[in-house]
Amino acid sequence: MPPIPTAELHLHIEGTLEPELAFALAERNGVVLPYDTQDELRVAYSFTDLQDFLDLYYALMAVLRTEDDFADLANAYLARAREQGVRHAEIFFDPQAHTERGVPIGTVIEGLSRALDAVQETHGITTRLIMCFLRDKSAESALETFESARPHLDRIAAVGLDSAEVGNPPSKFREVYARARAAGLKCVAHAGEEGPPAYVWEALDVLGVDRVDHGVRCLEDEALVARLVADQVPLTVCPLSNVRLRVVDRLEDHPLPAMLDAGLLVTVNSDDPAYFGGYVGDNYTAVRNALGLDDATLRTLARNSFRAAFLDEETRAAYLKEVEGVQESGQAGQNGG
Ligand code: ADE
Ligand code: ZN
Repeated sequence: MPPIPTAELHLHIEGTLEPELAFALAERNGVVLPYDTQDELRVAYSFTDLQDFLDLYYALMAVLRTEDDFADLANAYLARAREQGVRHAEIFFDPQAHTERGVPIGTVIEGLSRALDAVQETHGITTRLIMCFLRDKSAESALETFESARPHLDRIAAVGLDSAEVGNPPSKFREVYARARAAGLKCVAHAGEEGPPAYVWEALDVLGVDRVDHGVRCLEDEALVARLVADQVPLTVCPLSNVRLRVVDRLEDHPLPAMLDAGLLVTVNSDDPAYFGGYVGDNYTAVRNALGLDDATLRTLARNSFRAAFLDEETRAAYLKEVEGVQESGQAGQNGG
């Protein structure tokens, strides 16, 4: 049975770097990795928290140097995503993690764009690029990054905010978000992953985000939940990531059902699938099994993903019809479910 059609809205392209490709690119670029084998590298994938993961995530990016590297990375992700039912993908990238290593921002954007254009052509998959600022770097660095991206803004749909959350509140980035909005870009931000509900309020009220990435800690603040429900602000939740980064203890304890029950516009996504044990379809399968979600709920999650996507209304309606088509023909669930 084919997988349910979905939009993936929370996906760091650098987080799709599988060990196999990391070693291949290291060889191609003459980069020496601090691991002798892929198995040795995989042992490092047992994370204690977000920072522990980020240390490895940034270290492995050393292998990404040329336009071809970024195109190969995105092609590999898109091939896997397509197999798992992704019809539309909104893809984060971290320009500062590359420019600080001497890789020009144009190399990153051109390489990724080549893969995105090709998959639209060959498989009709639509995509967007979301340029993220690293929140543990300065507000000035974010502004410089935004200005350096101006010649490429026709390729960028939105700005985002990621990396180490605690101690780096959204309000630090007020100005760069104002500039992005003035340039016609959509705005999203990671908030309420490790950080408190106050950071979600700031993302809404100071940055004016269109979506909140993660947002699971909103449940600690009743008034915040009421606001998110009233405005139907989408939350891009990443269940397997939350377990691997110890935001929740076990998938069986994940607040996804409570979030749906509260009326929040929740979507399911993979975050950094090469590191967290699964792509988006694997996340659907995992929550179905661990949380006992029925087929109707899985379809709601798929529908939500298209409702929350940065799509024109005609394309959105076409994708929503694909989800309803699954319902009518009795297909549902992932990977034979
Ligand atoms: N960068 C990549 N994955 C991230 C996550 N889960 N949270 C914050 N920054 C990230
Ligand atoms: Zn993320």
